[in-house]
Amino acid sequence: MTYSQAEQYLKSISQEQLLRFYPELDSISQEKLLRQIEDTDFSVLENLSHRQDLSGKGKIEPISGLRLEEIQARKAEFFAVGKKAIQEGKVGAVLLAGGQGTRLGFDGPKGAYNVGITKPLYIFEQQVKNLLEVVEACGAPVPLYIMTSDTNHAQTVAFWQEHNYFSYPKDYVQFFVQEMAPAVDRCGKVLLSAKDKLALSPNGNGGWFTSMQKHGLLEDVKRRGIEWLNTYAVDNVLQRIADPVFIGATILSGCNCGSKVVCKTSPEERVGVLCLEDGMPNVIEYYEMSEEMANLRDEKGDLKYIYGVILNYLFSVQKALEILDKKIPVHIVEKKVPYVDEDGNTVTPDAPNAYKFETLILDMIKLMESCLPYEVERKREFAPVKNAVGTDSVESARELLKQNGIEL
Ligand code: UTP
Repeated sequence: MTYSQAEQYLKSISQEQLLRFYPELDSISQEKLLRQIEDTDFSVLENLSHRQDLSGKGKIEPISGLRLEEIQARKAEFFAVGKKAIQEGKVGAVLLAGGQGTRLGFDGPKGAYNVGITKPLYIFEQQVKNLLEVVEACGAPVPLYIMTSDTNHAQTVAFWQEHNYFSYPKDYVQFFVQEMAPAVDRCGKVLLSAKDKLALSPNGNGGWFTSMQKHGLLEDVKRRGIEWLNTYAVDNVLQRIADPVFIGATILSGCNCGSKVVCKTSPEERVGVLCLEDGMPNVIEYYEMSEEMANLRDEKGDLKYIYGVILNYLFSVQKALEILDKKIPVHIVEKKVPYVDEDGNTVTPDAPNAYKFETLILDMIKLMESCLPYEVERKREFAPVKNAVGTDSVESARELLKQNGIEL
């Protein structure tokens, strides 16, 4: 893209401020900036003008799911079906590790965080240990696809290499990089993070399947005969991956996807809840739920909207392929984004100053059309590491790891 092409294009979308420092850059930086402008998908900015339309919800109702007692009663049956699927090579896992982990404030990929005390124990390592237990129990490896982003890709790959893939069979691990999206100020103007660089950040975890397609990994999935993908977040250190009982239960349910859930401990708990929207499964965020809805109880006294999602889903590959071209909503999130101001000074804000555009995996659930809520024991499977201290922090995760007999 030439300068005049970039200028013309940016004017047409009212973003010409991105070329403000162009005349003072050297030729390498000029080229870099033009290339970035060419490569960036500015169409996400259109979401700013129809924000209201995206928040409309349909009729919300509770969804029924599999509770612990029923799972326990049918465990052997579920396990046999899940184990068979793994042994037949029909199950893969997708680790979502492209986030920035801004709340944790750790300078590196979140999975490289050391939760150990007397000896190192990295989040990636603990998750792989859990997966290896399944691989050993079933006698078959589970292909693992790891999503990173431009900001942490090189560091993540180097970390896995340095640690010899945490003893996971190397041939079964592949990395892919998700897309980035521009951040805008409150007036909708794309920010610069340097005079020759747009302020870009990972575009959310909702695009994992399309990113796999872009990187040719869906071909790999087909070639290997994978029918189910277990997609999970990096920030739950007790995450049980490719759990045969969960896989078996989802397959036998006939649903197109399954979601591990924990029962909410109180109506106020800040967790997305699985429910039905116009008869389709969907996740509503805690801030979208009225106080009245959050407090509704059934005849047994349980919360009606009880199933909190923990970002551990099992997707049918066939159904995910069918919905590949369907658009999922873009969420506009307020964040602190460092930027270069009009005078060329770098500003590091201490309060949110910008909007980022993100798609979320939870919006895929509705498109899947059927979903099995599958309850797991919170103490055994849910130790989120979101913050440095307090709720869902390194401290609380360490406590839970110890309760599970894991030496730190
Ligand atoms: P979060 O929503 O907690 O985002 O991610 P984050 O970026 O990691 O953390 P904060 O909000 O900045 O503190 C939930 C899961 O989705 C992944 C994360 O790596 C985590 O496993 N994720 C998030 C991506 O893979 N890509 C993204 O763009 C965002």
